[in-house]
Amino acid sequence: MKVLVIGGGAREHALCRSLSLDPDVTALHCAPGNAGIAEVAELHPVDATDGTAVARLAARLEAGLVVVGPEAPLVAGVADAVRDAGIACFGPSAEAARLEGSKAFAKSVMAAASVPTGRSYVCTTPEEIDTALDAFGAPFVVKDDGLAAGKGVVVTDDLATAREHALACGRVVIEEFLDGPEVSLFAVTDGRTVLPLRPAQDFKRALDGDEGPNTGGMGAYSPLPWADPKLVDEVLETVLQPTVDEMRRRGTPFSGLLYAGLAITGRGVRVIEFNARFGDPETQVVLARLRTPLAGVLLAAAEGRLADLPELVWRDDAAVTVVVASHNYPGTPRTGDPVEGLADVVAQDAPDAYVLHAGTRLADDGRTVLSAGGRVLSVTATGKDLAQARERAYAAVGRIRLDGSQHRTDIAREAADA
Ligand code: AMP
Ligand code: GLY
Repeated sequence: MKVLVIGGGAREHALCRSLSLDPDVTALHCAPGNAGIAEVAELHPVDATDGTAVARLAARLEAGLVVVGPEAPLVAGVADAVRDAGIACFGPSAEAARLEGSKAFAKSVMAAASVPTGRSYVCTTPEEIDTALDAFGAPFVVKDDGLAAGKGVVVTDDLATAREHALACGRVVIEEFLDGPEVSLFAVTDGRTVLPLRPAQDFKRALDGDEGPNTGGMGAYSPLPWADPKLVDEVLETVLQPTVDEMRRRGTPFSGLLYAGLAITGRGVRVIEFNARFGDPETQVVLARLRTPLAGVLLAAAEGRLADLPELVWRDDAAVTVVVASHNYPGTPRTGDPVEGLADVVAQDAPDAYVLHAGTRLADDGRTVLSAGGRVLSVTATGKDLAQARERAYAAVGRIRLDGSQHRTDIAREAADA
């Protein structure tokens, strides 16, 4: 099968890596990709959010499956354009991707499906904002209704900061604060059958100890030794299946990857958010643990055949990923710096640790890798347990040189020590 992956982050590198190891994949293409993906897939300089261009590329390549990675193309209807061209596509329609694209829409679906989530108000005027902030009190949770690359959410004890963010958003969701550890649980679905993957934990804040601003994610690990073994079944029953059923009932079935961002509160599991695609960086650790070849799973979802798929097979290994970010991320990151030491990781750490590129590109010399975004790469490692995976990931991070770069040093530390 020929596969085309849309996107160019570490998530797409992880997807491409897994697909490149799948014996059923005869050719692998990616648009637009990055310097690392270029090592496993043929790159095409196509705008990922241009549905017509993506569908045309897929047809020209005779792709049997298109996998859309990021949210922006999904919300823009790229999966619809590919399916309209008669090509199997893993990723929800624009209508269904509103589960991620609008926090207010996600709240309405959850209410209709009785999915447990924080109480919230959707506000558009300063009066509504003040009433909602007053009703909940500190800590305040203020979310831009639309897509904001993980940066639209402000959680703060400071009323003035909360109010300022809310006023800047236009349409805003103000929500009750949910206390407790967070879990990311992904499920592959064809709109009817729901196949949960293994849970992971992401580290959203920029700095050690969960300090600093929210980011797209600074690291992740899986499994979660502290979590209730029944968590996945419970979330399937109370969150994932009811949400997929409700979307189908509305005539806008959700097929693709449903990502539930959860808080495990003292009163039970609550949904913090839905995403309509694989999470980054959690995908790096979840796919590192998946033994079943990936292409067949994604194609079965795209073709509505998930009910017939044999059970997924997982490795016993633990996986840890650590994001290396540019100077000044998540503000205005500095780009264009050479990334050195990548070959040392391959020479010394492979196959237990490897680099997945995010914001990178090749310099004009065709060899030097340059930083080209906020999150530059993520180093993923596996081991017999989290402690070993962590040790391997950080050893590899230590070999990479990028001027002014930053990474968290505490990814998976608590879970590994527990
Ligand atoms: P989101 O984009 O909705 O995932 O929010 C980004 C991050 O903000 C989440 O991963 C949480 O760490 C935090 N957050 C969002 N909603 C809440 C909430 N209701 N209570 C506490 N923290 C939250
Ligand atoms: N890791 C958070 C996200 O992908 O949205």
